[in-house]
Amino acid sequence: MDSAIIENNYCRMKLRIKDIYVKVIYGDEEFHLETYTNEYRNLMMLLYDKIYIEGFGECKGMGRCGICMVEVVETKNELPHLERYEEATLKKTGVINLNSRLACQILVNEVLQNATIWIY
Ligand code: FES
Repeated sequence: MDSAIIENNYCRMKLRIKDIYVKVIYGDEEFHLETYTNEYRNLMMLLYDKIYIEGFGECKGMGRCGICMVEVVETKNELPHLERYEEATLKKTGVINLNSRLACQILVNEVLQNATIWIY
């Protein structure tokens, strides 16, 4: 077999390995989710798909409604800084907790590895 094909197949397999682990606390339940980089557009879509949360993400990820607000309880990696709309929406909801974020504004990548997320 051609080495380029082997390498290409290896890359595809590597991309599909669920190597991002996220612990989610929602109500009295704890969920252990596994995914990989860019499997979902953002954390909101991951949470919506794996843990069906009614009404989660009312503005469909525009960062305007604040319904997808979560608290990043623990993370070993630094999350990206708040974008302008995210900061404005969080202020509008009266949130002063620095760990509160909009799930729709957090990309699914290695930054989420071993993070613990609490859903309000
Ligand atoms: S879905 Fe509306 S702010 Fe995230």
